[in-house]
Amino acid sequence: MATYNVGYFVGSLAKASINRKLALALVRLAPKELQLKEIPFADLPLYSYDYDANFPPVARALKDAIAGVDAVLFVTPEYNRSIPGALKNAIDWASRPYGQNSFTRKPSGVIGTSPGKIGTAVGQQHLRSILAFCNSPLMNSIEAYIQFTPGLITDDGEVTDESFAEFLRNYITEFHGFITRVYTALPRNA
Ligand SMILES: Cc1cc2nc3c(=O)[nH]c(=O)nc-3n(C[C@H](O)[C@H](O)[C@H](O)COP(=O)(O)O)c2cc1C
Repeated sequence: MATYNVGYFVGSLAKASINRKLALALVRLAPKELQLKEIPFADLPLYSYDYDANFPPVARALKDAIAGVDAVLFVTPEYNRSIPGALKNAIDWASRPYGQNSFTRKPSGVIGTSPGKIGTAVGQQHLRSILAFCNSPLMNSIEAYIQFTPGLITDDGEVTDESFAEFLRNYITEFHGFITRVYTALPRNA
């Protein structure tokens, strides 16, 4: 199988983010043919189309980071049954200027965790809708709505429950397969 670079977004800005722990777990459990690297966005100002004529360096860096990877993975909390505003802001930046949407034909995946029983399911549906509009081929299945319990993943991403580790390994391996199928069908610039 081919090797792909994946840029991942952690939807939370919180220092003790459980979604960051989940992202680190996925990095650990990914097949060696999948290279995962975080795409940061915390320093972006709030987007306005007034910036379109002259994107600030931090926004250019975001677009360059997305351009430099084969696929993107969103690891995000649910805020008020949607996605956090900071993540939506980053997506809005990356989708512009008009005609230069960074997500076009860029494969994506969505996953998230929350202490609640439905584990970000509603937030993820909102994100799927956004990514569909951004013309990103999105992995439909498998879905992963994870209820976080204390100690499930350590701060540095070690999963303490082997059956859960196996679930995550399967998720990230499926994502590798999905990316491979998208690019096998047609390269992104074809
Ligand atoms: C503004 C706000 C809204 C939230 N809304 C939801 C929600 O809709 N569903 C949910 O399961 N948890 C919700 N939570 C709780 C989060 O799941 C919890 O804070 C979790 O730790 C966030 O993930 P993080 O630690 O990666 O930031 C909300 C938290 C905040 C601060």
